[in-house]
Amino acid sequence: MPALSAYIYMKEYMETGMKDRKGEPLPAWKKGLLTAALGLLAVTLAAGVRSGRTGDGGRRELAAPAYGERASEGAVPAGEEAESPRSRTSGESRESKRIALTFDDGPHPVYTERLLDGLAERGVKATFFLLGCNIEGNEEIVRRIAEEGHLIGNHTWYHVDITTLTQEEACAEIQDTSRKITEITGQPVEYVRPPFGNWNRELECEVMMIPIFWSVDTLDWSTRNADRLVDQVVSEAEENDIILMHDSYDSTVKAALRIVDLLQAEGYEFVTADELILE
Ligand code: NI
Repeated sequence: MPALSAYIYMKEYMETGMKDRKGEPLPAWKKGLLTAALGLLAVTLAAGVRSGRTGDGGRRELAAPAYGERASEGAVPAGEEAESPRSRTSGESRESKRIALTFDDGPHPVYTERLLDGLAERGVKATFFLLGCNIEGNEEIVRRIAEEGHLIGNHTWYHVDITTLTQEEACAEIQDTSRKITEITGQPVEYVRPPFGNWNRELECEVMMIPIFWSVDTLDWSTRNADRLVDQVVSEAEENDIILMHDSYDSTVKAALRIVDLLQAEGYEFVTADELILE
């Protein structure tokens, strides 16, 4: 603040007796002029302090039109005003509203391909947890699942409860299945869906396998009714859900594709299950 520095300098100068460079006292007119200048500076400073306060007020005044602008934005028709924050919110969540369909117990010689056709038409990726014992004779289907960008996981060889087996048996169930899948797809198998949801973390061979469970169990194997499945899933489904189904039934394939259509219309994006558990 230069005015304040000048004021302090001049005040000190005056207090030291107002001498010129040679140490001679200043003539009276110079003293008078300096005193007047000091007074002027003091007034300027005081005004500066006041204008500082006014400055705050100025900022407040500057802020006021901003409120005014917001207020005038708010003054658009009430419907639009009420709607725009919501639509903005749903627009943001629409980008991140993800959900995963998972199909266990395949590959099935008929229904898996029918499902793949429907998913491909809709540009949807899903997750398939395969049983080793169902792969033989259906290798082309396994290859197609991988080629079309779906995630393949391990569902054991014989659909066993891992926790009831010995270490050796359990490891064989998982490793044989993974090996079979990798032989066909050329890709490692990183995820396992333990049958019955029973997973034993103590198994050494399972260290590299990541279990994927589910949040919505459709019980499609007992329902066998596409309409009921659709109603159930569409009403229950929430963001980040992992939906458990089985590509072993005609009703499930029909229901799954209608579920995709309905939930896509609601803004859901279908992703592979690994995308939902890794975040
Ligand atoms: Ni199963």
